Amino acid sequence: MTVPSKSRKRVLSGIRSTGKLHIGHYVGALQNWVRMQDEYQCFFMVADWHALTTDYADTSRIKENSQQVVLDWLAAGLDPEKSVIFIQSHVPAHAELHLLFSMITPLGWLERVPTYKEQRENIKDKDLGTYGFLGYPVLQAADILIYKADFVPVGEDQVAHVELTREIARRFNRFYGSPKEVFSEPQALLTPAAKLPGTDGRKMSKSYGNTIMLTDPEPVVRQKLKTMVTDPARVRRSDPGNPDVCPVGDLHKIFSDKETMAKVNEGCRSAGIGCIECKGWAADALVKLLNPMQQRRKKFEENPRLAWDILEAGTERARRAASNTMKDVRAAMGMSLEYEPLTAESSKLSTSK
Ligand code: TRP
Ligand code: SF4
Repeated sequence: MTVPSKSRKRVLSGIRSTGKLHIGHYVGALQNWVRMQDEYQCFFMVADWHALTTDYADTSRIKENSQQVVLDWLAAGLDPEKSVIFIQSHVPAHAELHLLFSMITPLGWLERVPTYKEQRENIKDKDLGTYGFLGYPVLQAADILIYKADFVPVGEDQVAHVELTREIARRFNRFYGSPKEVFSEPQALLTPAAKLPGTDGRKMSKSYGNTIMLTDPEPVVRQKLKTMVTDPARVRRSDPGNPDVCPVGDLHKIFSDKETMAKVNEGCRSAGIGCIECKGWAADALVKLLNPMQQRRKKFEENPRLAWDILEAGTERARRAASNTMKDVRAAMGMSLEYEPLTAESSKLSTSK
């Protein structure tokens, strides 16, 4: 098995393994990753160590969650023939690089990261005053730099982490990068995030319980749509509505074709259609998207080893790429395994000066 060649630009991205994915993950990341596979050498990582930074107290589902993520990835069209699909915790070199980075990363940089401050304030049911949680972006920097990734496709909330990665790369190069720089600075590729509301109109998120999952069967999708909130101004069937302020309207903008969108716009504003009909069309679009994914997923569910084998093979490729970088890192820091004779000065027995 070969280390992926560097003739194409490299992409690395990952998702914390928190279980089955929803359509927000698809439009916010996966869809884009699937497209990138032909243009770049892609590395896609199940970030199970990152999941541990918050869910450290109970690890009973962590492996199952990783498996679910991989099934959803394969279902969505990530292709192990094109991309390296792997799991973070089985490439231990990430931890080694994380340790080395932790030596050179000033605490102030970490305390200033916006996601750190936000999560410390918002997540009250877990003690996030841990060393690992503060170091979350240092681990992420190791994830990215260990593959010498050129691009990191992420959502808005992760841009600060990529920025920190660049600063760590710069600082490493400044200390140890002479004559040849070990790391180049990766670039965030911001995935334009269309507004994707959940069934209650708030942002779709597992913690709000308002998701539509990639694995939801057709009747579930239809049922969830039925109870989805709409333009509050449209109380009666005869009241005109406005798709621009309606969560169902937002779904149409993302998933429906032009003709349907035109029917929604016209029909809603003129009270020519009812919300039930309109929601049915949104459900049609979702079912059309999810159906082929669920078909593909079935193949892997019938043979669950297959997905794990794919992950193992990808992880082996990742380990090789990571270990190449670590050789450069150790050499740059003057810590390679090779024997070097002591300098004449230091080998002298200490004598009184
Ligand atoms: N922090 C990312 C998230 O929460 C997941 C992640 C871990 C990641 N390591 C990464 C993303 C490296 C991009 C690159 O979504
Ligand atoms: Fe929303 Fe459609 Fe009802 Fe208009 S018709 S309010 S877009 S659900």
